[in-house]
Amino acid sequence: RAEAVINDSSSPAVVDRSNESIKHNIKPASSKWRHNQTLSLKIRKQILKFLDAEKDISVLKGTLKPGDIIHYVFDRDSTMNVSQNLYELLPRTSPLKGKQFPTCAIVGNSGVLLSSGCGPEIDAHSFVIRCNLAPVQEYSQDVGMKTDLVTMNPSVIQRAFEDLVNETWREKLLQRLHSLNGSILWIPAFMAKGGKERVEWVNELILKHHINVRTAYPSLRLLHAVRGYWLTNKVHIKRPTTGLLMYTLATRFCNQIYLYGFWPFPLDQNQNPVKYHYYDSLKYGYTSQASPHTMPLEFKALKTLHQQGALKLTVGECD
Ligand code: CTP
Repeated sequence: RAEAVINDSSSPAVVDRSNESIKHNIKPASSKWRHNQTLSLKIRKQILKFLDAEKDISVLKGTLKPGDIIHYVFDRDSTMNVSQNLYELLPRTSPLKGKQFPTCAIVGNSGVLLSSGCGPEIDAHSFVIRCNLAPVQEYSQDVGMKTDLVTMNPSVIQRAFEDLVNETWREKLLQRLHSLNGSILWIPAFMAKGGKERVEWVNELILKHHINVRTAYPSLRLLHAVRGYWLTNKVHIKRPTTGLLMYTLATRFCNQIYLYGFWPFPLDQNQNPVKYHYYDSLKYGYTSQASPHTMPLEFKALKTLHQQGALKLTVGECD
């Protein structure tokens, strides 16, 4: 039923939706939450049996050469050639090599962030992860500005930058990339065949304009490994969302993990409407029948971890 809530924006099931947000009620940030160090370490250890974020965060230069053929993770019959540009942008060593941070923020893109005032709290974390090149400047009071790692699904180029149809959109993307200023740009380039050209456009822009980002391209086994971990823990996800992927990776190098902007429901805890994204007008129905994700299920798992003190979810205002 939770799936239907997310997948059918035209559904008149308003009652169902309210129930969803009530069901997922999370106490305000100020209520008592204690980090459970023992559990966090146990989770890190378990996840390490499936993947190693230090390695799986990116394919390294030494392991590929231009012209190599790669089978897409989700479209095994389709292949791509490693281009010269892609090769040049592969890191030589893991961008997370030997890294340990006391606290990390993972910022999802839910509209629940709007009017949260969470910006300063988010920026105070030692490492901040964001998803899909979501804009920050105009929303800094609620989402903060600090960005240490940002993901970019190739589809973002279509969704947020009009497939670079003209100079204006190219310029917009260029500005966003320039603003990253040394952070890690994480591009799942080997997942699905549709993104090939978009990844190439971005690679070309980065090289041509000498953009100061550290590019990373997740390993071919990462998604299945993450899915394997969650399935083993009885969380029956179809394909992990970027948000869940980031949490799973962060367990390796973050001591405490704080999640913001994770709320895949159209009503908040007080039954007020919540935008799907804080920055655009994408509807919940966007995910549709074809959605590979099971977001409410993921949320339930994250909520359980919040209650156990393994992570902290903030779904309302910050103090
Ligand atoms: N998210 C959420 N609730 C929303 C929107 C997003 O919990 N209403 C979380 C999800 O974990 C999601 C992440 O924030 O993966 C980033 O959001 P978005 O850019 O919308 O990701 P998706 O479009 O779902 O892309 P992907 O397929 O990469 O997950």
